Amino acid sequence: MPKKLAAGNWKMNGLREALGEVKALYAACPTPSCDVLICPPATLIRSMSKVCDGIQIDVGGQDCHENTSGAHTGDISAPMLADTGATYVIVGHSERRATYGETDAQIHAKTAAAWAANLTAIVCIGETLDEREADKTLHIVGGQLAKSVPDAATPTNLVIAYEPVWAIGTGKTPTLAEIEAVHTFIRTRLVERFGPQGHEMRILYGGSMNPKNATDIAAVPNVDGGLVGGASLKASDFITIVQALNA
Ligand code: 13P
Repeated sequence: MPKKLAAGNWKMNGLREALGEVKALYAACPTPSCDVLICPPATLIRSMSKVCDGIQIDVGGQDCHENTSGAHTGDISAPMLADTGATYVIVGHSERRATYGETDAQIHAKTAAAWAANLTAIVCIGETLDEREADKTLHIVGGQLAKSVPDAATPTNLVIAYEPVWAIGTGKTPTLAEIEAVHTFIRTRLVERFGPQGHEMRILYGGSMNPKNATDIAAVPNVDGGLVGGASLKASDFITIVQALNA
């Protein structure tokens, strides 16, 4: 079984004082048995990388441009993220798919760009409520997986995050059986495409994961960790989730 990953996506939250949360996380859990990652806003990556130097907390970006440089005002490239100390980057988050109309083809290109900069890409996939109610969940998730992930995926350079859009920030989650069904489907597709290495690729669950439901979700077969939004902002909440994934 792959080593579990507790990943926090801070989204557009956090000023410099929020670095104290990372210090508190480390103080409470200095030697986690799972991998721990925080993806803060780009403005904090450099300073967080310094705080995390030599400790078991990795730092990642929340998006990258598919090009390495150029006339793209406001964007950040994968080599720039790596240059600031990031080792992971989230690509294709549903908030970016919805707000900026990011397509699977773009996410595929961003993932390849992340790999070229030696970053591990966390590729997000997930259905909307309408799609779930129309019984299209596996169709949507399968299509996004096939089209967003390039052929050169390995267990080291790729993490999949299954994030049902309707569960993000809503306090609603799928049932454990529903989570298992989608994660097992993703595992099957990964093994079909990448062979035995597909068993080693981590599949995170994301969407209203919190200190109360983390232990149950962490125990679902083929759940290899969590991508946590709101409950990653405070060390006191996130520690409980890290501990659930440590077990
Ligand atoms: P919440 O944990 O706040 O629902 O956010 C999940 C998410 O979008 C992580 O990427």
